[in-house]
Amino acid sequence: MSVILAIESSCDDTSVAICNNGKITANVIANQTIHQNYGGVIPELASRVHQQNIVPAVQQALIDAKVTKQDISAVAFTRGPGLLGSLLVGVSFAKSFALALNIPLISVNHMHAHILAHFIDDPKPNFPFLCLTVSGGHTQIVLVKDYFDMEIVGATLDDAAGEAFDKTAKLLALPYPGGPLIDKHAKLGNPLAFKFAEPQIADLNFSFSGFKTSILYFIRKQEKENPNFIAENLDDICASVQHSIVQILLNKLKKAAKQYNITEVAIAGGVSANSGLRNGLQQTADELGWKIYIPAFQYCTDNAGMIAIAGYQKYLKQDFVGQDVSPMARMEF
Ligand code: KG4
Ligand code: ZN
Repeated sequence: MSVILAIESSCDDTSVAICNNGKITANVIANQTIHQNYGGVIPELASRVHQQNIVPAVQQALIDAKVTKQDISAVAFTRGPGLLGSLLVGVSFAKSFALALNIPLISVNHMHAHILAHFIDDPKPNFPFLCLTVSGGHTQIVLVKDYFDMEIVGATLDDAAGEAFDKTAKLLALPYPGGPLIDKHAKLGNPLAFKFAEPQIADLNFSFSGFKTSILYFIRKQEKENPNFIAENLDDICASVQHSIVQILLNKLKKAAKQYNITEVAIAGGVSANSGLRNGLQQTADELGWKIYIPAFQYCTDNAGMIAIAGYQKYLKQDFVGQDVSPMARMEF
């Protein structure tokens, strides 16, 4: 019997979840809207808002899961990677909570947790599988051999896929975070209206910085001819950009699947909420006979449910850390 309380505070969302014997019974996510005024996450503000949100989020999670503090067996927390000030709030809270209740502490790597989110609901992937983890800070193809035996076989050399979405959105004067808005407009546009060059990177790595610059130059050029170009073509621009990013991601994923001879393929991270990526993955799966795994929306973007399920797996192994643990902004995979 185990009840794990999990805390996620690596970026701008304060999230608290509870995992009761392997089932997620609460997943509270307090979003921070203040960053929309600045066009990106302001680390200093993020830590302050985590401070305000964390206790109410824990209280809500206990109510949702219908448990009391005394029922908790262990506290799991995101140790990194992430914004140091944000992580500090979650780590400090987790340590104090564990100390007060005299229960063990479990350290979780945020990037492992995005992948382990696939073990929350059925169907669950079989090892080994490939996972494309695409978020605001990372773009990785991971060979997952076991719960904590994972190898990065491809990664971005510069910007992450989420940044490619968010930075394009900024060029189009859409508010932060722009990824979901590009997705929304893309549904109404023609994905083949405009063409953007696919980066020519060998092996399984990615590069999005040149791609982003090519969009910038394209828009500047078009605006010289028609100052209303963006407003008149917003849906088509979004659909074309999204289509290009999805093709870049899927082409590398196909290459990896072939190289490792694997047909179980998963996606994870905030960008896995993208409808173009979800549809494109389904199409590829139909063509190549892959078995695919796509997390529920609430477990795609940052959430403590994924920290709780990762914590549960560590709890089963009695893999605990001491009270001297500290956050790591650049935590090793
Ligand atoms: O995993 P996540 O919540 O946070 C990080 O760890 O980075 O990912 C956030 C990223 C942002 O770049 C956001 O724009 C992107 O995921 N995102 C999307 C969608 N939903 C979230 N990008 C494209 N389409 C979406 N529907
Ligand atoms: Zn994340």
